[in-house]
Amino acid sequence: MIIAIDGPAASGKGTLGKKLAAHYGLRHLDTGLLYRAVAKRVMDAGRRADDVAAAVAAAKTLDPAAFDEAALKTPAVGEAASVVSAIAEVRAALVTLQRDFAAKPPGAVLDGRDIGTVICPDADVKIYVTATPEVRARRRAAEYRANGRDITDAGVLADILKRDERDRNRAAAPLKQAPDAHLLDTTHLDIDAAIRAAIDIVEATRAGRGRD
Ligand code: C5P
Repeated sequence: MIIAIDGPAASGKGTLGKKLAAHYGLRHLDTGLLYRAVAKRVMDAGRRADDVAAAVAAAKTLDPAAFDEAALKTPAVGEAASVVSAIAEVRAALVTLQRDFAAKPPGAVLDGRDIGTVICPDADVKIYVTATPEVRARRRAAEYRANGRDITDAGVLADILKRDERDRNRAAAPLKQAPDAHLLDTTHLDIDAAIRAAIDIVEATRAGRGRD
């Protein structure tokens, strides 16, 4: 089974993806980490995030096994990731890795921006997760503060609004809900309720299709 989860920044896709994968015994890929890793390598090389040659070279030589998640999950890397991810050649260089991951038995949960639309258009279940920008900012800021980062809700809100705008309006694989994706709005749900709602979607979809 392949489950595609897409949605805007800080919508909770990663947490949902991880929990759904554990629930169904599937593998999980947070595809945002791929773009973050490309951005981090470009930054570490002292290049600008819109340096196409540097970004494409980084994308072609990524080693997901060597990712340092904490170093990738910073606001600065997220911002740069949103710039490198608008480069069509960067996206093209990462397609095979993502599709191979999804295709390996017993299947996988992938979360990102274009999983249901571009990477796995035939996914068994597609979920588009969202919440109001204010709620997303509040949750992400609390996470950052719990990890010792000094940041305000307003600062995170500005960051995610800018990224969402760039991700929605780029030409290459823009963020959008696939026509056959189920909308999951978590604005008024805590994490346990969001997971229950996601499992309900998976179960209803499988029952409707009569597939495993
Ligand atoms: O999901 P996360 O916030 O970690 O993603 C960082 C950035 O990577 C996003 O703002 C987006 O620009 C990009 N991204 C993407 N396609 C994906 C996953 C992430 O363009 N499938």
